[in-house]
Amino acid sequence: MSILVTGGAGFIGSHFIEYLLAHTDAPIVCLDSFNDYYDPAVKRRNIAEFAASSRVTVVEGDFCNSEAMRALFAQHRFEQVMHLGAYAGVRPSVERPLLYQKNNVEGTLVLLEAARAFPVQRFVLASSSTVYGGGATAPFCEDAPLGVPLSPYGATKRAAELLGLTYHGLHGTPVVCIRPFSVYGPRLRPDLAMTIFAAAISAGRPLPLFGDGTIRRDFTHIRDICDGLFAAMTADKAVGECINLGHSEPIAVRELITRLEQAIGKPAQIDFQSEKPGEMPVTHADLSKAERLLGYRPKVSFDEGVPEFVRWFLRV
Ligand SMILES: NC(=O)c1ccc[n+]([C@@H]2O[C@H](COP(=O)([O-])OP(=O)(O)OC[C@H]3O[C@@H](n4cnc5c(N)ncnc54)[C@H](O)[C@@H]3O)[C@@H](O)[C@H]2O)c1
Repeated sequence: MSILVTGGAGFIGSHFIEYLLAHTDAPIVCLDSFNDYYDPAVKRRNIAEFAASSRVTVVEGDFCNSEAMRALFAQHRFEQVMHLGAYAGVRPSVERPLLYQKNNVEGTLVLLEAARAFPVQRFVLASSSTVYGGGATAPFCEDAPLGVPLSPYGATKRAAELLGLTYHGLHGTPVVCIRPFSVYGPRLRPDLAMTIFAAAISAGRPLPLFGDGTIRRDFTHIRDICDGLFAAMTADKAVGECINLGHSEPIAVRELITRLEQAIGKPAQIDFQSEKPGEMPVTHADLSKAERLLGYRPKVSFDEGVPEFVRWFLRV
């Protein structure tokens, strides 16, 4: 019996595999296609520390391939699935919606079908705060009416959630949908604002800021996310539910830039550009359900997390 982590070479997936190595004795399969959404060399570095572990099997493959997934599930008889693999960027989804629908919706369905053929004890599905969309009232409560997603990415994440919940109702697949909010920390994805800003400030280059910097994000540290994901794999009452994992303290993007300037010790040269479509004005997690069902309470403050991220980024 073992644990499957899809997207295991990505930012969150690689941290979660390290978490599993530290907190369980289970064998782990790290499945990733090493696609070129961002430099695959970054993904190879993400897994470098654990790839040689006798407890981790790295499988380079595509979860959209249903025959390959059936064979993988038949071979390993997974006890738990942590489905983190996806195309995860908001803005690129506006340009490439079909790619997002293929990987995020069809790929999730392929995995749910494999889990129907070879039943698992838990199937945790990474959704996103973007499912709240425009018009949802902040702080976002899981069981209040959702808005309409503002990007194809958000729509594919909501579609994946709905398929998971349908499989739970129809086939009894023990699905839990997790909605992470702006995750950050060491090994952060290179396409995300915090990385792009840190790179520009440290190099003394102009920093591209889309809009006026007043949009707010509920930045949540990767260690807190790993605690919440692990609880979602084990907590009894979580099955069939959608659950937020956030920090519940939205920070304006302008404030993020100030914190990065302080941690790096250099001023930012801001290059104001017009707003890009698809972005939500604010994300803010209500955490009462996560606390009730998962015992989740974020511990890592922004004051602690940003300097830690900068130390990793500058490798000091
Ligand atoms: N990072 C965040 O702030 C955030 C917030 C909300 C939700 N999420 C969700 O969490 C999950 C992980 O996000 P991340 O930031 O680690 O992204 P990431 O891009 O670093 O990791 C995703 C991984 O999935 C892999 N992948 C994509 N399609 C695949 C396929 N068809 N077969 C096999 N592997 C495939 C990619 O190669 C990549 O390594 C995603 O589902 C994302 O939507 C992330």
